[in-house]
Amino acid sequence: MLLNNKVAIVTGGGSGIGEATSERFAREGAAVVIADLRMRKAEAVAAGINETGGHAIAVEVDVSEPQSVAALIDTTVDRMGRLDVLFSNAGTLRPGTVVELDVDDWDLVMGVNVRSVYLGGKYAIPVMLETGGGSIINTASISGLHGDGGAVSYAASKAAVINLTRAMSTDHAAEGIRVNAICPGTIETPPVQRMMADPAALAANLKAHSIGRLGRPEEIANAAVWLASDESSFVTGEAIVVDGGLRAQSPLGRLADPRPEHLR
Ligand SMILES: NC(=O)c1ccc[n+]([C@@H]2O[C@H](COP(=O)([O-])OP(=O)(O)OC[C@H]3O[C@@H](n4cnc5c(N)ncnc54)[C@H](O)[C@@H]3O)[C@@H](O)[C@H]2O)c1
Repeated sequence: MLLNNKVAIVTGGGSGIGEATSERFAREGAAVVIADLRMRKAEAVAAGINETGGHAIAVEVDVSEPQSVAALIDTTVDRMGRLDVLFSNAGTLRPGTVVELDVDDWDLVMGVNVRSVYLGGKYAIPVMLETGGGSIINTASISGLHGDGGAVSYAASKAAVINLTRAMSTDHAAEGIRVNAICPGTIETPPVQRMMADPAALAANLKAHSIGRLGRPEEIANAAVWLASDESSFVTGEAIVVDGGLRAQSPLGRLADPRPEHLR
């Protein structure tokens, strides 16, 4: 049990990567706070964990709102007694080039994806310090590492998450707070299943991941558990890529043989 006696918050815990990670954290012994904008989803995940012998509660949160995030941290301490792990995972995407994207949608994506990480750290770190430290994990994306077209605010937000992770880790490492990010490739979660209903999008995604399939939410949970646990005690400020080989691939594919015919 990698997370015995630890208390963990998972934002966006009601669906997809957050749901799988909440379940895995609970199986590793953590008491889990499933925090989500959609309370019914969060309650269903918490009920599933409690029915199988784990310990979870559901808390409504809007991760982009300071008062809401502060209340989440307060509720966690009131009901669970402490806070050791914060998985800042809730995120959203609005499509559009800079010309197409509404200003409101730019602000929404930056709020849910980046402001959330700042607010999570702002309110969680002082509480973690009361018990000697903790681990913060932020969900970034491979979209933060290269210039995906058609979703400019998403790409910008995830690059910001990666560098915010580095800066937070630098500021708080000496206090016993580790801060890391995970950069998933394409993972089969409800929004991605809707995107992959387009056969061309599915074919492109299958080709882009060297492993030849999309990732499963449990495969991101595996990385999150490691970063949450003391097994990663010397790891901070990193953005761990879990992408089935997507980033390693060149679009050129296999290079041609440059030798003259008689030397091949
Ligand atoms: N699925 C992928 O392929 C993929 C790839 C890279 C990164 N990510 C990132 O992983 C994270 C989880 O995505 P997912 O695919 O599991 O999506 P999902 O839609 O299954 O889960 C996201 C959850 O976040 C919640 N949420 C949205 N806005 C919120 C807010 N303001 N406050 C609180 N909760 C809010 C939603 O209600 C939902 O339950 C996101 O940060 C996403 O950008 C996903």
